Amino acid sequence: MDPAPADSALAAGFDLSRLDAAFYADPFPVYRALREHAPVKRMADGSLFLTRWADLDRIYRDTKTFSSDKREEFRPKYGATPLYEHHTTSLVFNDPPLHTRVRRLIAGALMPRALAAMEPGLHALVARLLDAIEARGEADLIEDFAAAIPIEVIGNLLAVPVEERGPLRGWSLAILGALEPVVTPEAAARGNEAVTEFLDYLRSLVARRRARPGDPATDVLTRLIQGEADGERLTEAELLHNCIFLLNAGHETTTNLIGNGLELLLRFPDQRARLLAEPGLIATAIEEFLRYESSNQLGNRRVVAETEIGGVPVAAGTLVTLCIGAANRDPARFEEPERLDIARQPNRHLAFAGGAHMCAGMNLARLEGQIAIAAFLRRFPGYVPAGAPVRGGRARFRGFLSLPIRVA
Ligand code: HEM
Repeated sequence: MDPAPADSALAAGFDLSRLDAAFYADPFPVYRALREHAPVKRMADGSLFLTRWADLDRIYRDTKTFSSDKREEFRPKYGATPLYEHHTTSLVFNDPPLHTRVRRLIAGALMPRALAAMEPGLHALVARLLDAIEARGEADLIEDFAAAIPIEVIGNLLAVPVEERGPLRGWSLAILGALEPVVTPEAAARGNEAVTEFLDYLRSLVARRRARPGDPATDVLTRLIQGEADGERLTEAELLHNCIFLLNAGHETTTNLIGNGLELLLRFPDQRARLLAEPGLIATAIEEFLRYESSNQLGNRRVVAETEIGGVPVAAGTLVTLCIGAANRDPARFEEPERLDIARQPNRHLAFAGGAHMCAGMNLARLEGQIAIAAFLRRFPGYVPAGAPVRGGRARFRGFLSLPIRVA
């Protein structure tokens, strides 16, 4: 039976610059209303908010018409600040040639062989975290588990000394927080401070690595420093800002994948029972968690050549927001999209975007998610909530700040 039509008033009243608490708690009714009533929705500032899977899929692939270069968009948003310099120098917010050069350097260290080498360490880390939770009988799933994994993995990827990893998560949260559709002066100040401190730290790390290079097969920082075989090197600013980006990109998103996945298994006990009975479903389960509660809900592009989207003419210069969270529940693409089905196949979600900028770390994220969630469930099949979860309260990055649970 088809569900009742979505409330058209939700679509008519949607304003990305004025989101309320109900939206942050559960944006999906609004996304559904937009998909049904205004899939190419014009915002007051002239930008477009898009919610259909087919529109997003096409835009991600068409890098000639839809640019990732954010210089124009971010100038009024950040002014001449460290945040502006950071975002406009990182590969994700650039088109070729910078994008291509940095991506090649990073991708080489995320090949299947490099990922396989990380597996034993990842299992050992997860086991240590589970031992500590078992000893206490209770935990905050985010602080004590989900967030503790990516920070170590990404720290290893750049060979950041273990004792120096403390401030990384705070810097990362502050920098990513300043990417929200509306940035308060306090959030901007925190973000700028974080970029400045991060740069200071990385200058010292890079100086040490130049003096004692690591193994370029596995150490991304050494790869970025050494550049390509044909001698093309990154400038100092490109090097530092792309290290910051990498440390951030691999971090909050993966924390949210693990946290959201374990929360979904609390919310849908039938799916938890199924995964316990059929542990071989962990790979499709991770894809379904990514689809259902995408860690990264929004993406952006700028139209650089006149075009149309879903039949609507669109002028060059128009900014578009790509709502991954909405596209991933589009009934035109997914059967019964509001149902969590850990065995769903096919499942061509857009949680990692698509096209030239498709997430360079997606296989690492998948590996972390699979190892963490499978081991957690094996050890604590009956974990229960032990207090109210606290959501991150962000539109772009969807996850929890805190998820208290009891395991015994
Ligand atoms: C569940 C976890 C993750 C999610 C949902 C995710 C999502 C995304 C998305 C949607 C993009 C495309 C952004 C755009 O172009 O608009 C992206 C790009 C990127 N991600 Fe991830 N990511 C995750 C984990 C990681 C990890 C673990 C790493 C690194 C080790 C990483 C590194 C990157 C890089 C380098 C890019 C830029 C690629 C480019 O511009 O060519 N990500 N990610």
